[in-house]
Amino acid sequence: MIITVTLNAAIDKTLAVPNFRLGRRHRAVEQTSMAGGKGVNVARALKALGQPVIATGLAGGPTGTRIIEQLTEEAILNDFVRIREESRMSTAVVDPTSGEQTEINERGPAVSEAELELFVDKLLYLAKGAAVCVFSGSLPRGVDPGLYGRLVTELHRLGVLSVLDSEGEPLRLATRAGPNILSPNELEAEELVGHEFADEEDRRTAVREIVELGAREALMTRADGCLALVGSDGDPARPRRLCRATLEPLEPVSSVGSGDAFLAGYVAARYGGGEDLDCLRFGVACGAESTQHFGAGVVDPREVERLVGEVQIDVEGAPALAPARVAS
Ligand SMILES: Nc1ncnc2c1ncn2[C@@H]1O[C@H](COP(=O)(O)OP(=O)(O)OP(=O)(O)O)[C@@H](O)[C@H]1O
Ligand SMILES: [Mg+2]
Repeated sequence: MIITVTLNAAIDKTLAVPNFRLGRRHRAVEQTSMAGGKGVNVARALKALGQPVIATGLAGGPTGTRIIEQLTEEAILNDFVRIREESRMSTAVVDPTSGEQTEINERGPAVSEAELELFVDKLLYLAKGAAVCVFSGSLPRGVDPGLYGRLVTELHRLGVLSVLDSEGEPLRLATRAGPNILSPNELEAEELVGHEFADEEDRRTAVREIVELGAREALMTRADGCLALVGSDGDPARPRRLCRATLEPLEPVSSVGSGDAFLAGYVAARYGGGEDLDCLRFGVACGAESTQHFGAGVVDPREVERLVGEVQIDVEGAPALAPARVAS
């Protein structure tokens, strides 16, 4: 079983608005509303890829009820902790004329200590039957930024692979706890390593630094694929390699959640025992395919299979690393 964690679950509304301009009145030509938040998107994509997945996290108020109902309608197994404050709505405006998209995320509920401890208990219980746990997205207000780090450590003890896609302080602290897989986009990676990337050498340095900070593997995504440091020094079956997986960008319908679909693809392939380079290929194909749909985390597995063959893989060597400063 794969667990996805969404502490800031939401109802994601996507509106298609041609010629979107600030300060004007518009009519949406298309709209969807579905359960969202990054972990939920990952769960949706994993389910579409045929993987056993359970979505957990926090959900509150009528919006929380809608999130759980919509997941259940989609037959995505779920087990959320109910909280007192209302879950948030997130709105994305996609302009089909320019291809640009604007996202507005509401602030989200504050979570009490007691609610959070209920969640931690639930997660550790679910983890007994799981092989992988994916933590995605921001932490709700009032939650200790060290929470992901603490959970990564707990899961490590239980022998569960931890996967992390977050940002800011929670990401920085969790990286030090030694998550198995870290998957930032370029902006999140720049913030994590503390410098901007001017060229490819900076990017290669950054994925190395992410591993030196504590992550076992780093997958840094961008619109044309990903730059990854996979494998480990102690495992001859999975040698440490710096790899680039690229695919010609597609004309997107909506690229909201493409990072989540990428991660679901990579995790699905790893869960299935795939070879590292095949996992990267599959992840990049899933990220790309998801841009052809309006909803976040929506992927068509047949189209993914078609795209897999078009992903180009370049192995750029086996970099020497400074010893990881993992807290474990
Ligand atoms: N236009 C596109 N065409 C093909 N693939 C794309 C396109 N945009 C994104 N992707 C794929 O999706 C993956 C994730 O991309 P990106 O780095 O933009 O994610 P992200 O910023 O984390 O997105 P989100 O947080 O909204 O899920 C990449 O592997 C990339 O290959
Ligand atoms: Mg992302």
